[in-house]
Amino acid sequence: MALNALSRHLVLVGFMGAGKSTLGPVLAERIGRAFVSVDDIVEERTGSTVADLFEDLGESAFRALEEQAALDVLERRQPSVVEIGGGGFASSVTRAALTDSAFTIHLQTTPDEAWGRVASSGRPLARDPDAFRALFEERRALYDGADGSARDLDGVVLAAAGVHLAAGALDDLGRLAPGVSAAELVVDEHVDLLYGERARAALGARLHEAHLVPAGESAKTAGEADRLWSALRVSRSGTIVALGGGCTIDVAGFVAATYLRGVSWVSVPTTLLAQVDAGIGGKTAIDLPEGKNLVGAFHWPARTVIDPDLLATLPQSELENGRAEVVKTGLLAGEPLWELETSEQVRRCAAFKSAICLRDPHDRGDRAQLNLGHTFAHALEAASGHSMAHGHAVALGLLAALRISGLEDNACHVEEILHPPLAAVDREAAWAALARDKKVEDGRPALVLLDAPGRPRLGVKVESHVVRAALDSLIA
Ligand SMILES: NC(=O)c1ccc[n+]([C@@H]2O[C@H](COP(=O)([O-])OP(=O)(O)OC[C@H]3O[C@@H](n4cnc5c(N)ncnc54)[C@H](O)[C@@H]3O)[C@@H](O)[C@H]2O)c1
Ligand SMILES: [Zn+2]
Repeated sequence: MALNALSRHLVLVGFMGAGKSTLGPVLAERIGRAFVSVDDIVEERTGSTVADLFEDLGESAFRALEEQAALDVLERRQPSVVEIGGGGFASSVTRAALTDSAFTIHLQTTPDEAWGRVASSGRPLARDPDAFRALFEERRALYDGADGSARDLDGVVLAAAGVHLAAGALDDLGRLAPGVSAAELVVDEHVDLLYGERARAALGARLHEAHLVPAGESAKTAGEADRLWSALRVSRSGTIVALGGGCTIDVAGFVAATYLRGVSWVSVPTTLLAQVDAGIGGKTAIDLPEGKNLVGAFHWPARTVIDPDLLATLPQSELENGRAEVVKTGLLAGEPLWELETSEQVRRCAAFKSAICLRDPHDRGDRAQLNLGHTFAHALEAASGHSMAHGHAVALGLLAALRISGLEDNACHVEEILHPPLAAVDREAAWAALARDKKVEDGRPALVLLDAPGRPRLGVKVESHVVRAALDSLIA
């Protein structure tokens, strides 16, 4: 069973009227792929409409044409978003090809909703409401065989990234991590006291061992990674389950990427920051004394299981940390996501990050936008000897990015939402740290700026005195 659509075609299946052809092109745009409709190909090839083909040739002749078109599309190397008509998924030949090259998502609907959409469409199988309902029931089990399911665009993006998000998901961990036969848990010692027992119960007999790591950044060291490598007993087919905040996720993911040249892993983020950011997208890392995240690997988790209910025990300071990334995501998305209720914030932000990471899994282009405000944030963090909270530094970094973007009103708004105190760091130390940033040439960093909320501009070179002034404005 495919786990995500990373290097596979993302194929939308589901009953007619589920909204596949409306959602498909928008989805394709969001994850940077071409959209292909199998019906459209059949119509192009025959010069006839699906309705006419049904009428003139009969359903089985149409199904043969549909099957051939589907097989041809699935053979294309470039992963696309593909829509297969409601009945196309019934072909066992098509389903076998899908198993080889696609991640299928069932776009769910109800009989009423679907009928409301197609009743007046003149589609061959949507002429009689009773026959329509009977067919709906008949096909239900078929679509349950898809790799994932969703009801809306964000849901499809999350499923495609292998992210499962639901209240109470922690207790469902065993079911949500299919194919996991032998697991070892890597858990933050503090989180273990809160949720370790539930995670163990959910994994049941599949859990072989649990390894505690220290809470916080001290988990992300070569020493901790070394300790885990020596303690692990998982085989090549085993799975590491990471339960904790971004620090636990980062070290456990890195260890999973390197142990036995890579074993699969499941990320179970427990902080707001990790649920909207660190738990998604497959970047893993540990720190060196020379700097943060200097050693790491891209290693996409087999599953990311997000349970927003776990945030109930999060201290206020950690919620604020995550909130800065929520505001960053809202600015990139062009929507005030921070105004939503927390679980909805998590869903929208996780879907936003998932889409960008699906578009650019190895951080070679679009993904750089996630660094909005971060060039400044990293400089402040380094100048504070990493004693400054990441969220605090990001909140200030966003102000600098917005000011340089000429979006003073948005900067004021962000200040009202996050009210970050000015940083108590040495100005020269912060400037020196900024100049050392990987992305800086001749004191001119390549910044992420916004033309407007929702319209990021990447790699913008700005005069160094402008950057310096913006940095200075963040420091007490
Ligand atoms: N890999 C990525 O893509 C990525 C992205 C962003 C950030 N990061 C990394 O994430 C790290 C920061 O992650 P973080 O902010 O989650 O910090 P963290 O992992 O240190 O967690 C913060 C604190 O919250 C506690 N905690 C965690 N879950 C809890 C819960 N549900 N209830 C109560 N307490 C809980 C932890 O014990 C810890 O003390 C940084 O090292 C950063 O580099 C990685
Ligand atoms: Zn960040």
